[in-house]
Amino acid sequence: MNKKIKKILSKKNKSKIICLTAYSKNIASILDKHCDLVLVGDSLGSVLYNYKSTKDVTLETMIDHSRSVRPGVKKSLMVVDMPYNTYRNSKEALKNAKLVMKKTKCDAVKLEGGKKIIPIVKSLIKNKIPVMGHLGILPQTEKKFSFKGKKFAERNRILKDAQLLEKAGIFSVVLECVETKLSKIISETIKVPTIGIGSSVYCDGQVLVTDDLIGLSENKFRFVKKYASTSKLINSAVKKYKSEVIKRQFPRAKHSFKN
Ligand code: KIV
Repeated sequence: MNKKIKKILSKKNKSKIICLTAYSKNIASILDKHCDLVLVGDSLGSVLYNYKSTKDVTLETMIDHSRSVRPGVKKSLMVVDMPYNTYRNSKEALKNAKLVMKKTKCDAVKLEGGKKIIPIVKSLIKNKIPVMGHLGILPQTEKKFSFKGKKFAERNRILKDAQLLEKAGIFSVVLECVETKLSKIISETIKVPTIGIGSSVYCDGQVLVTDDLIGLSENKFRFVKKYASTSKLINSAVKKYKSEVIKRQFPRAKHSFKN
């Protein structure tokens, strides 16, 4: 088993697993110092490309961004989201996941869904492609983004899906906006780590979209905490640059060349 995956597994019930998203090298190399897992999420569709849904993200886009991220990730586990309609059956999933692994040199792929995708997950794992699951809100196939686990049947289904995914061999599962008690039960029931986003402190680790955490995006989701005001920082740097160019204070001789 991949050493980095072993490390993630060994953290269960010991220390929290730190995960964030990266879409390019410069951010990835900062995250790598602090994270256990760096995710090239298909959230890049809305964050970078202004798409209404992650359904529009293509395999090529995921591969391109992952190739940018790869040199920035040295010590963390690098996981790449398989985008919508790239894993509709085992054959398609295997072909596309192999391509992602080969072109990006990532460590694992992430797939959204439960019971329906179990044969696909099993086939990838059988072919030595490590898989991370994703339950709760499934942005690739759902329109309504309200938290999961309100009703008994839904709670049972999500717990069962987590158990099925675990049995299929996933090394970890993202729980997106899963109700607090349910995320606690899942985290206590399955042996692989749960990574929460909007799913309470009881998860074994946490993930956020980095652009939200650093205050670069405009998103104001309940589950996001903004740790910095990066937009403001960029704004003031650009304002200063503009002013210095207008006043001919930049570039100076030291920024120019002479024979
Ligand atoms: O696409 C993504 O960034 C994700 C995380 C929010 C977990 O799936």
